[in-house]
Amino acid sequence: MVPPAAEVTIRPLRIENEAERALVLALFERSTSVGFPAWFTLQELIARQRESAAALLERQALPEPPSKTPMGEVVLIAETAGALIGFVWVRTAVDHFTQQPVGHVEDLATVPGHEGKGVGSALLAATEAWARDRGLSALTLHVWPANTRARALYARQGFGEEMIRMRKTL
Ligand SMILES: CC(C)(COP(=O)(O)OP(=O)(O)OC[C@H]1O[C@@H](n2cnc3c(N)ncnc32)[C@H](O)[C@@H]1OP(=O)(O)O)[C@@H](O)C(=O)NCCC(=O)NCCS
Repeated sequence: MVPPAAEVTIRPLRIENEAERALVLALFERSTSVGFPAWFTLQELIARQRESAAALLERQALPEPPSKTPMGEVVLIAETAGALIGFVWVRTAVDHFTQQPVGHVEDLATVPGHEGKGVGSALLAATEAWARDRGLSALTLHVWPANTRARALYARQGFGEEMIRMRKTL
């Protein structure tokens, strides 16, 4: 695994901080827009992402389930020299195949201008630590097939491809 960049701090979202809430909302839109399939419009994807982000931020205001239990959800923020530069959202999900709880990476994004410096890798490393702390046996995630940059990052971080999901619009 690529070690986190030394100058990048990864820590939980401070829900009361308006700048951090705004960062999460903006990066949600960014992450859905890279490589999405032709049968979606960017407008509808962004509308859906805004709903997810709003619900996520509401949940983050609630107390987190106790550590060391499998169930949980966290938003981690990457910061360098006081600048907010990325986020990851992970939560426990029941794996379809094993019926075991796993950490599912729902979203990950680096602020443009800070890419290619190890921020995404550091966020994934922190995600892995979060999942291990809860005793989870695996991490899963979904990624658009055409998002080659993200797929390369995941492969370097040890993720293997598991399933291809297909859709026929009726
Ligand atoms: C995918 C993403 C999270 C990667 O974040 P990152 O901070 O650039 O990740 P890292 O720097 O740890 O690793 C990225 C690697 O990919 C490449 N890379 C990623 N973004 C790059 C960029 N903008 N320019 C050049 N190389 C880039 C580099 O080869 C880099 O490898 P390196 O470690 O040898 O430098 C980021 O590009 C992003 O936010 N993309 C848009 C949102 C998105 O697609 N999210 C995933 C949804 S599933």
